[in-house]
Amino acid sequence: MNNQNQLYDIGVIGLGVMGKNLALNIADNQYRVAAFDLDELKVKETVRQEELERKQYLKHLTQARILGCNNLSELLSSLEKPRILLLSVPAGAPVDGVCESLIEAGIESDDIVIDTGNSLWTDTVDRELSYNQDFHFFSCAVSGGEVGARFGPSLMPSGSLTAWSRIEPIWQAIAAKVDTKTGLPIERFEPGNPVTEGEPCTTYIGPAGSGHYVKMVHNGIEYADMQLICEAYHLLSQGLGLSASEVGDVFERWNKGSLNSYLMEISADVLKQADPLTAAPLVEMILDKAGQKGTGLWTAVSSLQIGCPAPTIAEAVYARAVSTQKTQRQQLSKLLAGPSLSLSSELDKQAFIDQLEHALYCAKVSCYAQGFQLMAMQAKEMGWQLDFAEIAKIWRAGCIIRATFLQSITQAYQQDSELENLLMADVFAKQLSAKQDDWRIAVSQAVMSGVPVPCISSALAYYDSYRSSVLPANLLQGQRDYFGAHTFERTDKPAGEKYHLNWSSDRKLNKL
Ligand code: 6PG
Repeated sequence: MNNQNQLYDIGVIGLGVMGKNLALNIADNQYRVAAFDLDELKVKETVRQEELERKQYLKHLTQARILGCNNLSELLSSLEKPRILLLSVPAGAPVDGVCESLIEAGIESDDIVIDTGNSLWTDTVDRELSYNQDFHFFSCAVSGGEVGARFGPSLMPSGSLTAWSRIEPIWQAIAAKVDTKTGLPIERFEPGNPVTEGEPCTTYIGPAGSGHYVKMVHNGIEYADMQLICEAYHLLSQGLGLSASEVGDVFERWNKGSLNSYLMEISADVLKQADPLTAAPLVEMILDKAGQKGTGLWTAVSSLQIGCPAPTIAEAVYARAVSTQKTQRQQLSKLLAGPSLSLSSELDKQAFIDQLEHALYCAKVSCYAQGFQLMAMQAKEMGWQLDFAEIAKIWRAGCIIRATFLQSITQAYQQDSELENLLMADVFAKQLSAKQDDWRIAVSQAVMSGVPVPCISSALAYYDSYRSSVLPANLLQGQRDYFGAHTFERTDKPAGEKYHLNWSSDRKLNKL
């Protein structure tokens, strides 16, 4: 398949949905791409797609912009040296499989291999070390799904700065763009006509692993944000009795205000879609069992390991787990009583919809606060200098959690780069203080009507925990000291001084 002697700018390995679309995006931005997949059909399909698009949209171009390769040796010999290779293969063993095969095929030490999958960040740290002698292992987490990959994703690169300086121009070209003045995405979904103006949604995140860590937290927030929207749908449909399409209308309206986001937009669209088979609302024909690939779980695990509360993210993972236990839920729905009160009988529906809008906004801010705080704690642990204003900036377009309010997060970190918790930012402290009563009403109504809202309520518990200067951990420390002599500090003595009470004998206080 090789075109004689022409060398290509970048190699793409793995031509699934993401790899193929990234290859086409790169080609649209005037880079010559050599492409390979173990599945020959995928190579052919990518080459064919490029040809179709070129003939339709770029009639003046006669030469193929993507070269299909039969094997890794052919791919390597087609590339300009030092080479740049983009991997788009499933996370885990396949990444190492390709790296080993590249070594066998003759990759050279100044070549760069960029892992763009949803890899576990600790694997990325290990890989940079283990492949160091053979090539530059670089990583770049990608968000935006199929359309993002094709027309502009959000890109979170990390690893060696030398490697970054070589790939940065390509990354800036293919990334999603934000209007510099408004901070809003510039969207154009036209093959051959990429967005070249505006601010690219990519920035160097930091040393190896940091980009994948940031993407992992992005996904944790994504899980929570999606579940929050689902809970609002549940409350409006089960609680208020709105039809799917009426909930879609409510979401469309909310999407025009402070809740404006890609996830809100697509949720409205999903809710308003009729089932092509039965004409019923499609959402009602979709089985209520959620899948997951693990990045939300990794975020929750990381938060537990490092001791940074991210309860809403963890609840979102649990919510997916509960959803899969459909049979048990069906059995228990007949066994366990729910409240005898009905939400719809006593409520002013419109007032409740407005309160729920505020509740959803507050819960969303709370879950972003959790995610950003988690990144800050991990960064401190690892010695990464993460720039949170830049991270919020590159999430304003291209990625799944893109939302207008990321502009406020960007500004909050621009004003104070050391901000410990987003809830401390003036803008959010004021907004949440003003809306929190509505948040409580929404949660109370959900509880009283038996509609589960694990994320909306855990986000509120997070808010209440952080605004409590006193928590009942004093009793907890008493309990620990009682049964395990684990000691406690006193409110009236210097921090670090440990005390133990002889609970089972003379009850005397000892300073340790
Ligand atoms: C993105 C998405 C993407 C993918 C998730 C889905 O940012 O583009 O997060 O990475 O859709 O991995 O994850 P689940 O299958 O776990 O929902």
